[in-house]
Amino acid sequence: MTETNPYNAVMIEREDLNEALAVFKIKLGGGHAFEFSPGQFTTLGLIDPDAPPANPNSPASRRRRGPKLIRRAYSIASSPKIKSHLEFYVVRVDEGKFTDLLWKLKPGDPIFMDPKIKGTFVLDDIPDGKDLVMVGTGTGVGPFWSMLNTYQRAGKWRRLVLLEGCRYVRDLGYYDRVMKVAAEDESIVYLPTVTREPGDALWAGLRGRVHGILEPEKFKQLSGISLDPKRCHVLLCGSPQMIDEACENLSKLGFVTKDREHPDGNLHFERYW
Ligand SMILES: Cc1cc2nc3c(=O)[nH]c(=O)nc-3n(C[C@H](O)[C@H](O)[C@H](O)COP(=O)(O)OP(=O)(O)OC[C@H]3O[C@@H](n4cnc5c(N)ncnc54)[C@H](O)[C@@H]3O)c2cc1C
Ligand SMILES: NC(=O)c1ccc[n+]([C@@H]2O[C@H](COP(=O)([O-])OP(=O)(O)OC[C@H]3O[C@@H](n4cnc5c(N)ncnc54)[C@H](OP(=O)(O)O)[C@@H]3O)[C@@H](O)[C@H]2O)c1
Repeated sequence: MTETNPYNAVMIEREDLNEALAVFKIKLGGGHAFEFSPGQFTTLGLIDPDAPPANPNSPASRRRRGPKLIRRAYSIASSPKIKSHLEFYVVRVDEGKFTDLLWKLKPGDPIFMDPKIKGTFVLDDIPDGKDLVMVGTGTGVGPFWSMLNTYQRAGKWRRLVLLEGCRYVRDLGYYDRVMKVAAEDESIVYLPTVTREPGDALWAGLRGRVHGILEPEKFKQLSGISLDPKRCHVLLCGSPQMIDEACENLSKLGFVTKDREHPDGNLHFERYW
C-alpha cells in the first residue's frame, strides 16, 4: 500500500458455488495474523473505475490519498483458528457496484482489506450453556459458520439450531459443511429452508420464509427445543426486513433486544443493508 496503490491484500482463492455466490479467501500482505471473534466483520475495497482522477485544485480531492476506493462491509465466514487468511461468503447483487468489481477478480489479484476488525455481533457476552438459535437469510449464514466452526464442542451452547433461508437449494452454499458438522455433533440442528425452489424439484426439505419455522409450535417440533427467552438467545443476520419482522414476533414471546439499555438482552442482530 502506497500513496498511489491503496491495495494491501491479495485474493488468494475463490470458490464459485453458483454464478452469483462465492467464497473469497483474502490474505493481508506482510504476514499479518488476525485476532477477531466469530461474527465480526471487516471492510473490503476496490478502486472505483468511475471516480474522476484526483484534482489538485479541489480540497476534497486533495484530502484523498491515491485512487478512490469503493468499500463494503463483509462478515468473516472463517474461524479465527485459521491465521493465514480470511474467508468471505458473498452474493453478487444485481447491478451491485462493489460485487460487480469483486466478481472480476482472479486469484492473485490485489484488493484492500481493512486490518481493523469490527462488530459486536459475537457470542462473547452470551453465558455458556444457553440454547442458541441462529437465523440467517442468504449470505447471512456466513458469520454463523464461523461461530459453529470455532466453538463446536467447546461447551458454548446446550443446543444450537441454525435456521437458514434461501431462495433456491443452490443458494445453500454451506449446506454440505453444516450437514457434516451437524451429523457429527448432536447438539447442533440444521434447518435449511427455500422459498423459490420449484415444487417439482428434488428437495424434500423445508420450504417458506424463516418466520414460519420460528412459530413456537413448529419450531419445537422441528428442532426439539422451545423458543424460551429464559434459556435461549436468538441471533439474526442478513435481510433487514427479516430482522425487523423476527424481532417483532420474538419480542411478543418475551425476547429483548440486546442494546445499551438491555446489556443482558437475548436478541442479537446484524443487518446487511
Ligand atoms: C456489517 C455488514 C456485514 C456484511 N456482510 C456481508 C457478507 O458477509 N456477505 C454479503 O454478501 N454481503 C454482506 N454485506 C453487504 C455488503 O456490504 C454489500 O452491501 C453488498 O455486497 C452489496 O454491495 P454492492 O456494492 O454490490 O451493491 P449496492 O450497489 O451497494 O446494492 C445494495 C443493495 O443490494 C442488496 N444487498 C446488499 N447486500 C446483500 C446481501 N448480502 N444479500 C442480499 N441482498 C443484498 C440490498 O437491496 C441493498 O440495498 C454486509 C453488510 C454489512 C453492513
Ligand atoms: N439467489 C439467486 O439465485 C440470485 C442469482 C443472481 C443474483 N441474485 C441477486 O442477489 C441478491 C440477493 O439475493 P439473495 O437470494 O442472496 O438474498 P435475499 O433476496 O435476501 O433472499 C434470501 C432469502 O431471504 C428471504 N427473505 C427476504 N425477505 C425476507 C423477510 N422479510 N423475511 C423473511 N425472509 C425473507 C428470501 O425469501 P423470498 O424468496 O420470499 O424473497 C430468500 O429465501 C439480489 O439482488 C438478487 O437479485 C440472486
